[in-house]
Amino acid sequence: MTQTDTMQTTPRTLTPDRIDHFREQGFVHIPGIINAEEVERFRVAALRIYETQEGLSARDVFSQHVNVWRGDETMRELTLHPNVAGVARKLAGVSLRLWHDQILVKRPHNNTPTEFHQDQPYWPHDGSPNPISAWIALCDVPVERGCMSFLPGSHRRTDLERQDLSDARSLFGICPDLQWSPRVTVPLKAGDCTFHHGRCAHMANANETDEPRVAHVVIYMDAAARYDGKGHVVTDPLGLKLGDALAGEMFPELG
Ligand code: SIN
Ligand code: NI
Repeated sequence: MTQTDTMQTTPRTLTPDRIDHFREQGFVHIPGIINAEEVERFRVAALRIYETQEGLSARDVFSQHVNVWRGDETMRELTLHPNVAGVARKLAGVSLRLWHDQILVKRPHNNTPTEFHQDQPYWPHDGSPNPISAWIALCDVPVERGCMSFLPGSHRRTDLERQDLSDARSLFGICPDLQWSPRVTVPLKAGDCTFHHGRCAHMANANETDEPRVAHVVIYMDAAARYDGKGHVVTDPLGLKLGDALAGEMFPELG
């Protein structure tokens, strides 16, 4: 089956079992969050940004480009996409703001998995209860190209300190019992996405294929989220004070 005959998912067609799955397990697979024409347009735009900026930000695990919606009209369309935000809103069950976006490219044969970690401990709004990320596949992402695996239910572990996503022993050193959790691996067709809660532990395989793995991640937080003072590349330049609302044009309310 190709992406064009995959069912599209909208906030209206999102089924209650997918909402329940997200809330119980901390992640969910959503087929067809964008259509085939959009995949092509956004993949070309994402790769253009990757190729022009790669020298500035190449890393071993993946190449990461943050807040591309602020500088690129095409990627802005994807980051602010009403279908993506509408589904996120229904899964989270609360009003959401954009926290930031990022293009995540794994170059061919990068040899490096993204190791298990939770996202929220990296972010300066630790107390916000409903952070949710849409990881959108802009190419087919089978296991061999670096799809994600999740630890179901780990979004309830709000007590864990920050883990190192480049160290395979980090999460399991901090929380040894999670080593015995089942792991669920979710290959994605181009245009599909997974949504995961900011505390749901996840990893992504290395890219063993000859094509780059191109993903765009849109990250939302509770509309009421407040700044907790932690350092972060998005908030460091903003001169925020502890307890300030994360609001305004950098963090538009979307869902
Ligand atoms: C990846 O795409 O390699 C990891 C994404 C994530 O950690 O959220
Ligand atoms: Ni992550």
